[in-house]
Amino acid sequence: MRVVCVGSGYVGSVTAAAFAFLGHDTTVIDIDPNKIRMIQSGNSPIYEPELDRLISMTIEKTLHAETGYDSVNQADIIFICVGTPSKADGTVDLTYVTQVAEQIAPRLNPDSFTVIVNKSTVPVGTAERVTAIVKQISGLQAGIHFSVVSNPEFLREGSALEDVFFPDRIVIGTESEQAKIVMRELYDRLLKRHDYEQWSETFSCLNQPDKPPAIYFETDSKSAEMIKYASNAFLSVKISYINEVARLCDALGAQVQHVAKGMGLDDRIGNKFLQVSSGWGGSCFPKDTIELLSTSQKYGRELTVVKAAIDSNLTMHEYCVDKIKSRLKSLNGKTIGILGLTFKPNTDDVRKSQAQVIIAKLLELGANIKVHDPKGMEMFRKFNMEFPIIYCEKPEETAQYADAIVLLTHWDQYLQLDWSELYSRMSNPYILDTRNVLPRSELNHMGFQVEGLGTS
Ligand code: UDX
Repeated sequence: MRVVCVGSGYVGSVTAAAFAFLGHDTTVIDIDPNKIRMIQSGNSPIYEPELDRLISMTIEKTLHAETGYDSVNQADIIFICVGTPSKADGTVDLTYVTQVAEQIAPRLNPDSFTVIVNKSTVPVGTAERVTAIVKQISGLQAGIHFSVVSNPEFLREGSALEDVFFPDRIVIGTESEQAKIVMRELYDRLLKRHDYEQWSETFSCLNQPDKPPAIYFETDSKSAEMIKYASNAFLSVKISYINEVARLCDALGAQVQHVAKGMGLDDRIGNKFLQVSSGWGGSCFPKDTIELLSTSQKYGRELTVVKAAIDSNLTMHEYCVDKIKSRLKSLNGKTIGILGLTFKPNTDDVRKSQAQVIIAKLLELGANIKVHDPKGMEMFRKFNMEFPIIYCEKPEETAQYADAIVLLTHWDQYLQLDWSELYSRMSNPYILDTRNVLPRSELNHMGFQVEGLGTS
């Protein structure tokens, strides 16, 4: 099939490269010539494990990259994968999505049927909105010449390759029978694991013969759009819940890891997304929860549980700062080393990361900050030019004369640090491990005072 993906960010580049690997003739379009040049030369425009290799294997074979929209005319399916940032009031800004719809519309082939897919996370009702734009500009008939489908992405950054090839579910939201046929044909190779040998031999993360096949779920477009928001908000609520339980464990002397394990043994609860943190972050959860909350308020059906999770998340960041403060008494003039700036490991993405809020608060209280991250320092610096902080090449350097080390992101690299070296560099050997991943007794043995969350 001829596939076009508009947008080469975290969603578009992974989606396009995956369809190309599955043998579909795929073109990725982006207005940024730098990103397109990177893809054309076989590189990934973002950091995502193994994506470079996936692109280099497919480029100029089944994958093409362009800045113009010429390929739209021949496309069977066009994915809209552009950014949907938040406006100042927290609701989603659909400018990029509507601009893409306006670009696509006049280029659609009137002699064939084209499916336009909203892959980006968009508010409920956006499929109808895109349909109206395309109809108006092109003069073509919806359902006859084209149809707009909602097919939300559920990719986790850092595990995107695995998620795109082994999704739990593929959700297709459309009212058009013809669009359903086209989407089924597109996903057929994925569902049947066409060329699985090649997947598993080329990428170790795809060598999972026992992984159950994805559930293919068809519904109407509004329900599909809602599934995405309701899922992300539910996961945010789940994390906020365990984070609050951790705070109570701190007060009562219980161990939250044991509590999470014991809870997760109940199939109805499940053991995933019960990992304590300084809060959830990233480009999805903060944005999607706010959007869903505002929509619910607009319709007079406020999702109070989601509202509570958003508030709880902010207080979780503060809780971490309070822990450091109560240990060091005053933060004024104290030096704090931060390990991890990205919102989670295996990504260079620092958007709405826990580090941003926590560092801002620490600076406000007069602390001197040294930071390290294996992949996220460049982006963090770009977004936080106003932060007077020291960027360290090596994680050990954050410990130099430090009064505290705070682990925010559980990169593997931090689990393998030579902690005795950090100990020798610190003024006060205190560690706050916000992910409860460091070897506590070993560190205590070295002389560190280590605190976690919910592990008093
Ligand atoms: C999320 C959804 O998981 C994905 O399905 C969707 O399509 C996009 O949004 P992503 O933003 O990449 O993916 O990150 P995710 O792995 O879900 O983590 C989100 C945040 O929650 C991170 O800050 C992470 O550290 C935090 N988290 C996650 C926890 O604090 N505890 C957990 O147990 C899991």
